[in-house]
Amino acid sequence: MNVGVIVPAAGAGERLGGRAKPFVTLAGEPMLVHALRPFLADGRVSSVVVALHPAEARNPPAWLATLDPRIRLTRGGRERGDSVRAALEAVPSDIEAILIHDAARPLVTPALVDRAIDAVVHGRSAAVGVRMVDTVHEVDERGRINATLDRSRLWRAQTPQAFPRAILVEAHRQAAVEGEHATDDAALVARTGEPVHLIDGDPENLKVTTPADLVVAEAVLRSRAR
Ligand code: CTP
Ligand code: MG
Repeated sequence: MNVGVIVPAAGAGERLGGRAKPFVTLAGEPMLVHALRPFLADGRVSSVVVALHPAEARNPPAWLATLDPRIRLTRGGRERGDSVRAALEAVPSDIEAILIHDAARPLVTPALVDRAIDAVVHGRSAAVGVRMVDTVHEVDERGRINATLDRSRLWRAQTPQAFPRAILVEAHRQAAVEGEHATDDAALVARTGEPVHLIDGDPENLKVTTPADLVVAEAVLRSRAR
């Protein structure tokens, strides 16, 4: 089965102070390179579509254009879902299984990529995640506890997420019709009634959102390089 990867990298990085997150250097290399590496290292991946912010899509860095012949660049949209949809349209027609991975997760490992591909080549939709370690309270409008959620059933979503192509396309078609803005493709697919399996992610696979996350990500990358 031909596996393709979509990498949403078109965000504005507002919570990082308006920096182009995929191009921020971590442990000597752009975040996007760290995020792509385990996918490019997997021989089952035959196509990678990276959705870039319009400014970068117009004038992509030379190193990115020549990084790997399987990479195609496309222009992302306003919301993450728009970027995923734009990338979906650029996925070659022979691709039957699609992985989605955020450029903002540079700590993804070959093991996570392997698990996601394993699931999707067996026809399953899957998302990596980690079990909640903190207790989660739902509160009322005055900040008082309404309910304490059953932690054993709570997972934090990560990427990669993996879907049979037709299922992902249909989920995005329905979301577009309904004007739904989800930040998570697994949620969109689950809304269509398709089962989405959560598989073990890695607590280290954090999403770089704020400047503090850069410090942690850099430290983890350096510890792995030793
Ligand atoms: N993303 C995208 N297109 C958008 C918005 C987000 O491709 N219109 C991508 C980001 O580049 C990132 C991933 O989706 O890889 C997760 O988004 P997030 O962490 O929120 O990144 P940003 O949107 O860039 O950050 P912020 O929300 O702080 O502006
Ligand atoms: Mg965002």
